[in-house]
Amino acid sequence: MSVAVLLLLLGLLVAEGRRDRCFFNRTQEYCVCYNLSEETIGSIIQCLAATVVEFRGGDLEKYIAFPIRDLDPSAIETLGSLVIQKIIIGNVLVPEILLARVLRFFSYTHVQELAFESCIFQGTGNWSGMDGQNLPIVSLSFHNVTSSPLTGHEQAFSSLSRWLGTLQELAVTGSHVLSLPCAIGRVFRALRSLSLAHNSLGDGSLAPTFCQGAFPHLQELSLHHNNLSSYHSVCEGVQLLLELQHLDLSHNQLMANSSSSCQWPASLRRFNLSSTGLDEVPTPLPPNLEVLDMSHNHLHAVDISLSSLKKLFLNQNLLQAVPSIRNYPKLDTLHLDNNSISELPRDELKLLGRLQDVAVADNPFSCSCSGAGGLQALAATGHLGQGWPEDYRCQSPAQYQGWPVAQVPLSVLRCHLAAVVAPLCVILALLCVAGAVCLLRTRPCSRA
Ligand SMILES: *[C@@H]1O[C@H](CO)[C@@H](O)[C@H](O)[C@H]1NC(C)=O
Ligand SMILES: *[C@@H]1O[C@H](CO)[C@@H](O)[C@H](O)[C@H]1NC(C)=O
Ligand SMILES: *[C@@H]1O[C@H](CO)[C@@H](O)[C@H](O)[C@H]1NC(C)=O
Ligand SMILES: *[C@@H]1O[C@H](CO)[C@@H](O)[C@H](O)[C@H]1NC(C)=O
Ligand SMILES: *[C@@H]1O[C@H](CO)[C@@H](O)[C@H](O)[C@H]1NC(C)=O
Ligand SMILES: *[C@@H]1O[C@H](CO)[C@@H](O)[C@H](O)[C@H]1NC(C)=O
Ligand SMILES: *[C@@H]1O[C@H](CO)[C@@H](O)[C@H](O)[C@H]1NC(C)=O
Ligand SMILES: *[C@@H]1O[C@H](CO)[C@@H](O)[C@H](O)[C@H]1NC(C)=O
Repeated sequence: MSVAVLLLLLGLLVAEGRRDRCFFNRTQEYCVCYNLSEETIGSIIQCLAATVVEFRGGDLEKYIAFPIRDLDPSAIETLGSLVIQKIIIGNVLVPEILLARVLRFFSYTHVQELAFESCIFQGTGNWSGMDGQNLPIVSLSFHNVTSSPLTGHEQAFSSLSRWLGTLQELAVTGSHVLSLPCAIGRVFRALRSLSLAHNSLGDGSLAPTFCQGAFPHLQELSLHHNNLSSYHSVCEGVQLLLELQHLDLSHNQLMANSSSSCQWPASLRRFNLSSTGLDEVPTPLPPNLEVLDMSHNHLHAVDISLSSLKKLFLNQNLLQAVPSIRNYPKLDTLHLDNNSISELPRDELKLLGRLQDVAVADNPFSCSCSGAGGLQALAATGHLGQGWPEDYRCQSPAQYQGWPVAQVPLSVLRCHLAAVVAPLCVILALLCVAGAVCLLRTRPCSRA
């Protein structure tokens, strides 16, 4: 029973209710408990074999005064034997004062991930019990949460700094975040991955958030679906993240500045500019990119050279020609679906055929002999990705409009007419000559 009570504390979940509030899926090792309360706590026993436990619903306010004593050695041993690795807490009103009191019990478990979804954090807690404490949790996430402003939480961050200094992944998404105070970033000394997606970060909020000394080891930053608008300001805002490898700016409305001289961190390898309203390739690009996603934009032309580039995504743009892939010696993936490309360049067909993954579906193909021939030859290499043959259709000439490119005949008579006609002409010409000679001969003959 003591284990059950502890789980209740860990899960922080409560409401009035019936029996059997927990449901365990053995194949997924996933247990979900709804509106758990003291009365139905027995039901949680079945979750003890789960690696992921989710608690949904409940109101913890009435447990604020619940007596929480220190644990005896057998309870500590039991907590240490649990296999639970991830706890998700959803749709709960969490009084911070209670959270501050139970968080330290996680130090006896092997829980590595803690996630709060659609929770409301109330009030401020006394976190001094966490001074110098470490926790096994390395990944923390908050999605669609509300709380009192972070600026009132200096004490919490200083008490939690030992643990937060070891955290590796943090996500605060869909929670109307406008910016983070500079001092907070400095607490996350070991953080590798940060997601602030689906918030309201603007151009001016990046530089203070990623100030000198903040998130010194950050490798992955996700800022998709925010309120960013200047490519130049974003570059200046993340300039101090010297270990950044992966930056996702997709789903912002970005304006490029042709005179920008800002330098991106040289460590950047993956850059996502998908759905950012770009009508030209912004400059400068990070110099050592391996993966560049500029899909779902309004690009008319792409003329860049990045010698380290391996994957280039340009699907859903307005390109009329395949960019010259001679500029990308290491390229293995090129996506050009949904553009305005009518033909593949003859002189680069061989290079295209060497890529591992090429996709050019949903383009208005010209099914002239060279157009259809080029595509059919590329398809024969087996590297044409998803969509072949059904999404490759002819736009012209009129006789093949709507046809699958794969079915356009490339017969000798249609495509190599010249090859057939030329010998015919020679033969005809020879016949003519022979006839003429004969005529010339017969005339004097007849005269004679
Ligand atoms: C457990 O999860 C698997 C995979 O999602 C699902 O197919 C199965 O129906 C679930 N079992 C129960 C008892 O819900
Ligand atoms: C949990 O409680 C909420 C309201 O308090 C109720 O709407 C919901 O049906 C309950 N869920 C279960 C599984 O009993
Ligand atoms: C966000 O959380 C609130 C509770 O704080 C909830 O009422 C709302 O439905 C959630 N929204 C989404 C999209 O999950
Ligand atoms: C916080 O709790 C500690 C004991 O853990 C206590 O000494 C301190 O006075 C409390 N602080 C506040 C502001 O209540
Ligand atoms: C987005 O930024 C603009 C200024 O760049 C501002 O006027 C607008 O209110 C912001 N929108 C949101 C939702 O924060
Ligand atoms: C464009 O770049 C210049 C020079 O780097 C900078 O001073 C200016 O503020 C930028 N303009 C915008 C709109 O970001
Ligand atoms: C870029 O972001 C879009 C939208 O957020 C996503 O669908 C896509 O997979 C991302 N691209 C890469 C290469 O990760
Ligand atoms: C191409 O555009 C069509 C219509 O907008 C869409 O249904 C399809 O998913 C797109 N294909 C790709 C590969 O983006």
